[in-house]
Amino acid sequence: MAQRKKAERKTGSIGARLLRWGTIIVTSYLVLLLALVSYPEVFQPHLIYLNWIRYPSVNWSGDAQEFGFRAGTVRSIKFSTPDNVTLGAWHILPRTSAPSVLSLTKGGASPVGKESVEDRDVRFTKALQSAGRVFLYFHGNAGNRATGHRTDFYKIIQDLGDNTHIIAVDCRGFGDSDGYFASEYGIQIDAVASFDWIVAQGVSPSKIVVVGHSLGTGIATYLAHNITVSRGIHGGGGLLLLAGYASIPDAALGYPMVPLLWPFKHHPSLATKAKSFVVERWESSRNIRDTHGWPVLLVHGSRDYEILPWQARNLFLQAVSARIGTEAVEPPEDAVTALAPDHEEGSHLEYEGYDIRTLPGREAWLWTLRPNKDADAVVRGPKDIGNVWYLEVKHGGHNSLSKFHVVPDTIEAWATINGL
Ligand SMILES: *[C@@H]1O[C@H](CO)[C@@H](O)[C@H](O)[C@H]1NC(C)=O
Ligand SMILES: *[C@@H]1O[C@H](CO)[C@@H](O)[C@H](O)[C@H]1NC(C)=O
Ligand SMILES: *[C@@H]1O[C@H](CO)[C@@H](O)[C@H](O)[C@H]1NC(C)=O
Repeated sequence: MAQRKKAERKTGSIGARLLRWGTIIVTSYLVLLLALVSYPEVFQPHLIYLNWIRYPSVNWSGDAQEFGFRAGTVRSIKFSTPDNVTLGAWHILPRTSAPSVLSLTKGGASPVGKESVEDRDVRFTKALQSAGRVFLYFHGNAGNRATGHRTDFYKIIQDLGDNTHIIAVDCRGFGDSDGYFASEYGIQIDAVASFDWIVAQGVSPSKIVVVGHSLGTGIATYLAHNITVSRGIHGGGGLLLLAGYASIPDAALGYPMVPLLWPFKHHPSLATKAKSFVVERWESSRNIRDTHGWPVLLVHGSRDYEILPWQARNLFLQAVSARIGTEAVEPPEDAVTALAPDHEEGSHLEYEGYDIRTLPGREAWLWTLRPNKDADAVVRGPKDIGNVWYLEVKHGGHNSLSKFHVVPDTIEAWATINGL
């Protein structure tokens, strides 16, 4: 009897405890939502940019050897925006600019060691002026330009041909750049200032490939849109978007790292309402429509669970629609994954304005704007062939795209076909 009473008391207290914790969690969630809706400009940026996650800690005056780069191939640079914010960035030379170990064993020269900071800057600036291509890279949220998978990406780009350089920027609030507060308005200024800094060094805009990863794809797409709209059609060399999204509201709704909007995502009208409260917007699916003259390459992993592939497909369809002048339609659900292996019957789909094919072994799917046989240069620009590509990597995830050889191979093919 006494034992039963004890057991009852115990279940009672567990129930009460669950109720108490449930109440605390639900109340905190509602308070957080209320704060995000009532003071959006104050609270939303902290959850979207996550720039208070300051990892890894880096000696920015060093030459990034600890991240695996050859001595003398990376320098930190600083430049100012028109509103007087100082930004930090890395200028990364092609891997071949380091003297070969074989030549060193034979007494060959290396600039490292006896070089002053001034001499180093002269060497890097001269090299930049004769670069074949310059990749201007905007990273995703959290961390800084030295975060692991980002340096992996610079290394695959360093190995591309044609004297390829990288400028990897930390926008305001990140890394060694000024400020603790990131915002769409400020970062837009940073993006244009970064492009202008490269041009001011003596690089032709047609050699600049604007690159974004994850959150950075919104920055890159905005920049291409800005240059096109503000400065005329053929502003830059190319736009490369890795793990891109249609807009921040779309990304936020499904983002598992900050699942605040998940309760809304299965109800279309609630989802629309929730999205309308997001103030940092980065409307890429709209901005990408204004990138005529920019060759576009989108790369996404089929196993990206942070930003699902439909968002990159949406960007592809928007870019294609703007170029062909009619709204490109989506392929039916599953038609793409069901494509037969390459070179077999049924390995290729044709839609209005674009084609989808599998690469051998179905390692990836390549969607391409169909070359315009009528050479309608006004609509598609002179860099017609290969103008918009979308590569979906079957085993690729959100941060792991650099480890798939098909990614640099496709970037090289896309750059070459577009005369970059
Ligand atoms: C950072 O790097 C510079 C240049 O290599 C070096 O002189 C300095 O001692 C380093 N600082 C720290 C704290 O390691
Ligand atoms: C930026 O700084 C320069 C030099 O210190 C100054 O002349 C200029 O007025 C400043 N501009 C703004 C927008 O604060
Ligand atoms: C492009 O950027 C500049 C500099 O930030 C800005 O003044 C201009 O309004 C922007 N243009 C567009 C179309 O966004």
